[in-house]
Amino acid sequence: MNFSHESIEKNPWLLILLVTLVISIGGAVEIIPLFFQRSTTEPVAGLKPYSPLRLVGRDIYVREGCYNCHSQMIRPFRAETERYGHYSVAGESVYDRPFQWGSKRTGPDLARVGGRYSDEWHRAHLDNPRDLVPESNMPGYPWLAKTRLDPQEVIPKMRALRRLSVPYTDEEIAAAPESLAGKTEQDALVAYLQGLGIHIKARN
Ligand code: HEC
Repeated sequence: MNFSHESIEKNPWLLILLVTLVISIGGAVEIIPLFFQRSTTEPVAGLKPYSPLRLVGRDIYVREGCYNCHSQMIRPFRAETERYGHYSVAGESVYDRPFQWGSKRTGPDLARVGGRYSDEWHRAHLDNPRDLVPESNMPGYPWLAKTRLDPQEVIPKMRALRRLSVPYTDEEIAAAPESLAGKTEQDALVAYLQGLGIHIKARN
């Protein structure tokens, strides 16, 4: 068979095969090293697996679909770092399964919202955003403050994450329900928000 360029272009199956081959090699060269790089696999300094309260809060964030309007991914551009702080790095989301990076920004990026407001601000904002930001189109989530957590539900979640290599110990899992006793869904969500992005603070 003659492997001139013309013969490849005139044979769609051969062309498909070769294109697939080239793209696979290109993809493999880009993607496979990421599985072994420290910067993408190791947590940034100070980052710990989610505490039980924050873990439950994170699941409420996902359940309520907050990601439909909020990304958690600050891109390395001046306009973003001036507004939100240091750009996001991979080592900040090693315990996020699934990650919440996203790109939809009806509201601001939340990757570094931790510590920006008080807990009371978040509670009032979640109950009714318009009490604090009159022009806001964010929905209110007033039921979160009235709904108590079921402390036992955190155990299977922590076990599942441990299977995915998050280093929770048996003692941590056993002690988790106690730390959730009497807490509301709003407590958990606020705790989750207040820890977002706090391990890298410097601007630029
Ligand atoms: C329909 C889109 C929408 C949804 C869904 C949504 N938000 Fe928002 N959010 C906004 C908008 C718009 C703003 C900016 C105005 C404001 O502060 O209310 C905002 C602001 C915020 C802020 C303040 C951010 C800052 O830096 O000032 C936080 C925190 C927040 N939202 C959390 C949440 C959480 C948690 C959820 C899910 C329970 C959620 N949002 C769901 C649209 C949304």
